[in-house]
Amino acid sequence: MIVCHCQHITDRDIQAAIDWMRAADAQSIITPGRVYHALGKSPECGGCISHFVATMRQDDRVGVPPDLCNLRSQQEKDVHHEGQRQGY
Ligand code: FES
Repeated sequence: MIVCHCQHITDRDIQAAIDWMRAADAQSIITPGRVYHALGKSPECGGCISHFVATMRQDDRVGVPPDLCNLRSQQEKDVHHEGQRQGY
């Protein structure tokens, strides 16, 4: 099924790009821009992006790797006092 008509990208192309990116780096965060880049293309009109993202989300491997989840809350815990004295 064609997902992006401007660049003639199919759902199989997107899945193949995700397969390739996961094989190359299991910790990478996969975005639509990275999928376009992996396919050697770039979006033109942008009209397909919601369908493009929906197609990507059908793949369980697109999510954020568990090691990278909750990094912001972890950093906030680590930098509680920012090196300042308690009574400052
Ligand atoms: S349909 Fe995908 S960029 Fe236009």
